[in-house]
Amino acid sequence: MDSKVFNVGLGNNDFETRKKSDSDFISFWNEQAKNLSWFSSWTKTLDWNPPFGRWFVGGTLNASYNALDIHQNTRSKKPAILWEGENGDSRTLTYNELLTEVQKFSNVLKSLGLKKGDRVTIYLPMVPELPISMLSCARIGVIHTVVFSGFSSNALKERIDDSKSKIVITADGGYRRGSVVKLKSVVDEAIQELDCVQNVIVFERTKIPIKMNPKDHLWSELMKNASTKCEPEKLSSDHPLYILYTSGTTGKPKGVLHGTGGYLTQLYSTFKWAFDIKDSDVFFCTADIGWVTGHSYVVYAPLMHGATEVMYEGAPDYPDISRMWDIIQKYKVTIFYTTPTALRMFMRFGDDIPNSYDLSTLRLLGTVGEPINPEVWKWYFKTIGKEKCPIIDTWWQTETGGIMLSPLPGLETIPLKPGSATLPIPGVDIAVVDEGGKDVKVNTKGYLVIRKPWPGMLLTLWGDDEKYKAVYWSKYDHSYYSGDYAIRDEDGYFWILGRADDVLKVAGHRIGTAELESSIVSHNDVAEAAVCGIPHDIKGEVIIAFVVLKQQIQKNEQVLRKEIVEMVRKGVGPIATPEQIYFVSKLPKTRSGKIMRRLLKSIAKNEKIGDTSTLEDEAAVSEVQSAFNELKKSAKNTKTN
Ligand code: WT7
Repeated sequence: MDSKVFNVGLGNNDFETRKKSDSDFISFWNEQAKNLSWFSSWTKTLDWNPPFGRWFVGGTLNASYNALDIHQNTRSKKPAILWEGENGDSRTLTYNELLTEVQKFSNVLKSLGLKKGDRVTIYLPMVPELPISMLSCARIGVIHTVVFSGFSSNALKERIDDSKSKIVITADGGYRRGSVVKLKSVVDEAIQELDCVQNVIVFERTKIPIKMNPKDHLWSELMKNASTKCEPEKLSSDHPLYILYTSGTTGKPKGVLHGTGGYLTQLYSTFKWAFDIKDSDVFFCTADIGWVTGHSYVVYAPLMHGATEVMYEGAPDYPDISRMWDIIQKYKVTIFYTTPTALRMFMRFGDDIPNSYDLSTLRLLGTVGEPINPEVWKWYFKTIGKEKCPIIDTWWQTETGGIMLSPLPGLETIPLKPGSATLPIPGVDIAVVDEGGKDVKVNTKGYLVIRKPWPGMLLTLWGDDEKYKAVYWSKYDHSYYSGDYAIRDEDGYFWILGRADDVLKVAGHRIGTAELESSIVSHNDVAEAAVCGIPHDIKGEVIIAFVVLKQQIQKNEQVLRKEIVEMVRKGVGPIATPEQIYFVSKLPKTRSGKIMRRLLKSIAKNEKIGDTSTLEDEAAVSEVQSAFNELKKSAKNTKTN
């Protein structure tokens, strides 16, 4: 580990908060929850019925009220969202304007028959109508489920069907790298066979011609006569706020279900501690709202704090690699939160580009989603932050709801170590353990677990309590299993080493191997497939696939590769496109028939193979190995793009 530390902080030294949290985590969170606005107070801070946690039981509140209504006396004219379109369009929405839009759209949803507890799928690009839709659902107690607009119609269909959404909200199209992605036609295809969907609302972003079906309504038409007043529902603290589908080790995506009171409490606290948010800040998180980072730190946390934030529609390197620096300069951004993948890409283009922009307004930098290489951390610190901004490397997951490990410049000044997410936030109990659940020694690799319930924890997996128990709470008796490897150093700092399971992190996006494999085998000529991730300079990890064809398939391999890529793009989406595809005649499997992915990975990485005693057929190893070596020699043949 890099032992060099960076002593940069913002001068905050509130060590009391940590002390309080150490003595009693329940009364600690009890105090934190009082920062929100409640319609009625709770009677019990935590109802822990392992592994189900319910926070602030008996309390009632509303997420949209906490994000919007509470600011109307003090910040009604303050910009909430400074929106920049990929094509240079811009819009500003003040806290008052945002509230008006949300009330109108809440009334629209009500007029279409939605009731508390119903589900709505939102498939929108990064336009203000996306947070407006989410906050409107929250206002009337409807559970939103946002699907990233880069997912395919098949992936969208699966999510609408699993959540049994009554309404789908989409746009005619969205801009991506200068061209229009036709979102409405993806929805048309997705809902063809779904009876649950009663209405589709189409926001007119691009004004491209679209085909209107009987269930379709235009956003502008519905909003024309909508009333501007809609009282927020008084919802119980554990009322579900949203479902967000994420990939796991099994085939189907899991619907992570988040509640209201606990989730918002963790967001409120972490936004204050980690980002040190002030009224004068301009916050810019580059995440798409389709992922959890966007839900928590583009929509709910900044708005609860009455912050001004930049929301950007398009690709971070469009029309060129300086786009982010241009936005920071233009909007005088003070806090910037992005991914290691984006930073690695920017870094490759050198210092001259960021140096030619005025980045002097920046005072705090953050990263999330995957491990950050120490040299990238240092580049971020020096070239972007000019050695004056603390960097917060924030570890968390869709399931944890909010940040769990991070430096907290808004609370305390601690030495920073490039590549380490440092320490747990106050009030959570995180450890690194071995297979048996015992704490590992200092600087020893183990599994990252969470040992006590925390406010932002998922309520369950949508419609599947058993799976929730099995996935997160069965490996260890009383701990939440995160699926990550980590070590803890002599100062108690955590270093995340990546996934311990069959989940891939490609450009920070979470992709399940099983989903990928099933879309590959849906190709008619394919008998079997196995995928794994290998390290990549920019994306952190890329996907490679090993494919066994059905007998007597004589097709040209290049043609087959193209078709397989097409299957993946249709089945999951373009983010899951394999980088390389290898054809082999069998896959290395254990005697019980499980594919030995670890082995594929070692071969692909040119590593020593290790123990193969559980292997069913040793020949598969040498075959995969030689296929790999052959193909590596003529690397261009394996490339899919
Ligand atoms: C997985 C969760 C956290 C919101 C966005 C991703 C990896 C996340 C870090 C970090 C190293 C990280 C882990 C985790 N991860 N943050 N700071 N350092 N790895 O949420 O899609 O649910 O993915 O992302 O592997 O388990 P997600």
